[in-house]
Amino acid sequence: MITVNQTEHLFHLHNGRISYLLYIMESGQLGHLYFGKALNPNGSYRHMIEKSHRPMTTYFTEGDLYTSYEHLCQEYPCYGTSDYRYPALEIQGIDGSRICKLEYQNYCIIKGKKPLPGLPATYTEEKNEADTLEIIMKDPYRNLEVTFSYTIFYDFDVITRSVRFFNYGNEPIFLNRAMSMSIDMPDSHYQSLQLSGSWSRERYIKIRDLEPGITSISSTRGHSSHQHNPFLALKRSSTTEQHGEVYGFSLIYSGNFLAQIEVDNYQILRIMLGINPFGFQWKLKPKTDFFTPEAVMVYSENGLNGMSTQFHRLYRKRLARGYWRDRERPVLLNSWEAVQFDYTEDTLLQFAKKAKDCGIELFVLDDGWFSTRNDDKKGLGDWIANPAKLPNGIEGLAEKLEELGIKFGLWFEPEMVNKDSDFFRSHPDFLIQTPGRSLSHGRNQYVLDFSRPEVVDAIYKQMDSLLSKAKISYIKWDMNRSISECYSAAYPPDQQGEIFHRYILGVYKLHERLIQAFPKLLIESCASGGGRFDAGMIYYSPQGWVSDNSDAIERLKIQYGTSLVYPFSCMGAHVSACPNEQVGRRTPIETRGAVAYTGAFGYELDLNQLNEQEIETVKQQIVFYKNNRNLIATGDFYRLLSPFEENFAAWEIVQPNGKYALVTVTRILSESNGPYRRLPLCGLLKEQEYSIQSKYLSYCAYGDELMQYGLILEDKSSGQIIDGSGGCQDFFSIIYIIRAK
Ligand code: GLA
Repeated sequence: MITVNQTEHLFHLHNGRISYLLYIMESGQLGHLYFGKALNPNGSYRHMIEKSHRPMTTYFTEGDLYTSYEHLCQEYPCYGTSDYRYPALEIQGIDGSRICKLEYQNYCIIKGKKPLPGLPATYTEEKNEADTLEIIMKDPYRNLEVTFSYTIFYDFDVITRSVRFFNYGNEPIFLNRAMSMSIDMPDSHYQSLQLSGSWSRERYIKIRDLEPGITSISSTRGHSSHQHNPFLALKRSSTTEQHGEVYGFSLIYSGNFLAQIEVDNYQILRIMLGINPFGFQWKLKPKTDFFTPEAVMVYSENGLNGMSTQFHRLYRKRLARGYWRDRERPVLLNSWEAVQFDYTEDTLLQFAKKAKDCGIELFVLDDGWFSTRNDDKKGLGDWIANPAKLPNGIEGLAEKLEELGIKFGLWFEPEMVNKDSDFFRSHPDFLIQTPGRSLSHGRNQYVLDFSRPEVVDAIYKQMDSLLSKAKISYIKWDMNRSISECYSAAYPPDQQGEIFHRYILGVYKLHERLIQAFPKLLIESCASGGGRFDAGMIYYSPQGWVSDNSDAIERLKIQYGTSLVYPFSCMGAHVSACPNEQVGRRTPIETRGAVAYTGAFGYELDLNQLNEQEIETVKQQIVFYKNNRNLIATGDFYRLLSPFEENFAAWEIVQPNGKYALVTVTRILSESNGPYRRLPLCGLLKEQEYSIQSKYLSYCAYGDELMQYGLILEDKSSGQIIDGSGGCQDFFSIIYIIRAK
C-alpha cells in the first residue's frame, strides 16, 4: 500500500480507494502533492509540482526565481524560511531564534502501526491491516530530529498522522507550535464544516464559505470543550449527505486544540490540526522526545455520510478497544435526573427493583453518594461513601444490587475537589493555581493538578480501593469545569507552557491504569454532558454522555451533529422524565425512546412515577432495544433528513449485509395538510424484497424502490404521519423496521 519512487523521491500511500502523495523537494523539504480518490500506484507525479515566478516573494536558493516555500504545497511547513503562511512547526532555541529548516534524512516502512506513548491512538491487531511510512527529517542546526508517521489502512479510507520530535543536541529546544498534521490543498473551493455549540447544545453543524485569510476553531479551556469539537471537514458547496467530495479531519485528543484553515491569495488552502499553540510551549530537553497527538484524515466522494461511515468504522473497531469494544452495552438507569443529591439506600433499592422488573441491566448511582456531598459545595475529592445515605457503604449497596440481579455503576469526578473536603484539607497544594493570583472556581470546585504524577496516584489509590472491594461494573467519569489560572507548582517557569498538555496526559494515565487494573470495567466519559466528547476519550471509554440536555427534540440536533464523526455505539442516550428538566418540554415516551435507541441506551428518571401504561411501554422499549442493540452498535449509519434544515429528523441503521434496517423518523412540529412524503433509503440490496413494518404501516417493496422512490411515510388520507389516535401531534417519532423477506 506504500509505493516509493526512488528516482522521483516520491511516496504514494494507496489502498485502491484513496491516495496520498508526498515528495522530497530538491532542497530536502517535504512537499505535498495529492490527497483524494485513488491514483494509479505506478504513476510518476513529480510534474504536479507547481513552480511559478511570483512578485514580492523570497526564494531559498540563490539564482532560483521559481522555488519559494510560500508558493509550494508543503507537508509540514516550518516557521521562518520564505513561507509567510501560518506554520505547522515553530521552534525556539535558547538563543531566541525561531527559525527551523527540516531536511530529509531517511524513510522506513513498517507493517501495522506503532502505539503513541501516553496518548490515545488508532491501532492495528494484525500487521497486515495497515502500513506505516516513517519519514525522518532533521534540522541540522539544532540537531532536532523529526519523524513523520503516516498510516494507511486496507479497510478504512483514512490516513493517520503524528509527529515525533527528538532533541539530539545539548541544549533545550522549545516547541512553540507542533501541529499533528498540515496539508496544502491545490484549490480552495470548499466550505468548511465544524461542530460547535455550548453546554446543552453541543456539536451543532455550522458551515462557512471560505475566503482568503484564516478560519479556525479551537479550545483554550483545558478540555476539547462544548464550544468546538476537534474536527473540521472541507466539502464542496454541491456536496450533500450522500454525494460529492468531502475531507474530514479529526484529532484524537481531549485537551486544547486548534483546527485552522488558511486560504492564500493564490487559492491554496492550508488546513492544520493539533494541540492549540496558544498557551503551549514544550521544553524539549536534550535526548528527550515529544509526540504529537494523532490526526485522522478521511477522504470520501460519497458525501458527508460517506465520510462519517469511515470515521464510525475506524473509531468503533480500531480506536475503541478492550473488553467492551464488541460487547452489547447494558441498558442502564441513571439516578441523576430522578433524585440528584437527595436519596437513601432504600430509595435506591426501590429504583433498582423497579428497574430490574422492567428489564434494565445496570443501575448507575450518580453524584451525591460520597463524603458530605449533599449539594455541589462539598465533598469532591473524598471518594468514600456517606454513611448517612449509605449505611452499608458502596460495598453493601453493590452486594444488594447484585442479589437483585442488576449490575452496579458509580459516578466519579476524579479530576476535581471542593475546598470543603478532607482531600483538599490534606493536600491544599494539589490544585492547578498560579502563585499570587486569585483562583476562579466553577460549580464551587477546583481542578486537581493532573500534570503531577503524585496527584494522579493519590486519586487512583482512592478509586482502586473502592473498585477492588465493591462489585462495580461501570463508572461514569465526569468533569464539570474548565481550567483557569493554569500553572503547576511542580514545574519550573520555562515549563509552564506544558501544563495543559501534561494535565490531559495525566487524565489519560489514570484511565489507562484503571483499564489495566479492571479490564472489564465499562467507563462512560462525561464533562457536564458533552464537554469532552472527542476521539481521545473513545480510546478509554467506549461510550460518553453526549449532552446534559436529555430532551428528545433537542437531542435530534445534538445526536445528528455528533454522528458526523462519532458512532452511535459511543453516544450515551437516555429516556428522561416529562416535562423535561432542561427545556420543560413534554414529549411522548415513544419519541423519547425512539431518539434514545440510537445510542448506548438507558433511562434517567424515577420509574416509580410512571403510570402502568408507561411502564408497559418502557418494558417494550427495552425488549426492542435488546433485540436491536447489536445492529445499532455495528450497523452502517445514514443521515436522511436534517433537523438543522427541516421540521424532520430521520436516520437509518443498516446491517452491513443490507438485509435488515431500522429507520427512525421524527416530525418535530405537527403540520396541517402537509404534503405526501417519501424518504429514499440507503444501503439496501436493490434486488431484495423487504417487508416494511411500523406501528401504522405494513407493506412489501424491493430495495431499488425503497432507495429510489423511497419509503412511504404518510398516512395517505392526510398526507401526514399520524399518531394512531386520529390526529397529529407535535414531537412525533416513528420507527420503521425493514427486513429482507
Ligand atoms: C454533570 C453531568 C450530569 C450529572 C451531574 C452530577 O452535570 O453531566 O450527568 O452527572 O454532573 O453532578
